[in-house]
Amino acid sequence: MAENAIKIYNKRIVDDKWPAESFHMDSNSLSFPDNTFTHSIANALVFVLPDDGLGTLKEMHRTLKPGGIAIANSWAVIPQMDAIEAATTTTRPPGTPLPLLKRERWSHPDMLRGVMQKAGFEDVKVTQTEMWITTCEIHRYATMLWSFVLGTSSVACSIEEEENWDRAIGIIEEELMNTEGAEVVEGRRLKLRFVVNVGVGMKSPM
Ligand SMILES: C[S@@+](CC[C@H](N)C(=O)[O-])C[C@H]1O[C@@H](n2cnc3c(N)ncnc32)[C@H](O)[C@@H]1O
Repeated sequence: MAENAIKIYNKRIVDDKWPAESFHMDSNSLSFPDNTFTHSIANALVFVLPDDGLGTLKEMHRTLKPGGIAIANSWAVIPQMDAIEAATTTTRPPGTPLPLLKRERWSHPDMLRGVMQKAGFEDVKVTQTEMWITTCEIHRYATMLWSFVLGTSSVACSIEEEENWDRAIGIIEEELMNTEGAEVVEGRRLKLRFVVNVGVGMKSPM
C-alpha cells in the first residue's frame, strides 16, 4: 500500500478523532494473535491477490474471535471496463492483454462465497449491492483511467500509441457515457453505476 495513503489515513485518525490505529503489514501474515477481533473487513482486496485472497481470508479467520464476522467484497459490475477494453482493442497493438481479465471470474458471487468458505467461514452469504459514483470531469476521468491502464500494462507503450492518446481518451469518454445507467451531471461529471458482491461470513462460535 502506498505510504501516502497511510499518511492520509493517520491524519484522518487525528483530525476526526477516530478511535483507530493503523498497522502496515502483509495481509497474508498478520502480526495479531489468534482470536483478537470481533469484525474483520477486506475492502477491495481479495481479488487483487495472487491466490484469490485465500491466505488473507485464512488470516482474517485466525485473528477473529469465535463467532466473529468477516466481510469481503468483489466487483460484479465495473462500468469503465468495457470502455477501457474498447480503447485497448482499437488503439493498442493486436494481442495486447486486456487489463483486469480476472473480473470475469470475480463478477459471479459464487467465486467470493467459495473462497470465504475455503478459508473456514460458516454461513457465508453474498449479496449484490448497487453503488453510484460521481466522477470528476469526464475528460479528466478518462485521462486518469487511460494513464493507469498504460502505466500498469505488461506491454510497453509505443510512439504510435502515444500518437493515438487523444483517440483512446475520446473512445473511453464516449463508451463511458453509453454505459448502462450512466448519467452526465453538472460540470460534465459522470454518475456511474457499479455493482458490488458483499460477502459476510462467521467464524464458528465453538
Ligand atoms: C483496490 S486497493 C483497495 C485499498 C483499500 N482497501 C481501500 O478500500 O481503498 C487494493 C490494495 O491492496 C493492497 N495489497 C495488495 N497486496 C497486499 C498484501 N499482500 N497485503 C496487504 N495489502 C495488499 C494494495 O497495495 C492496494 O492498496
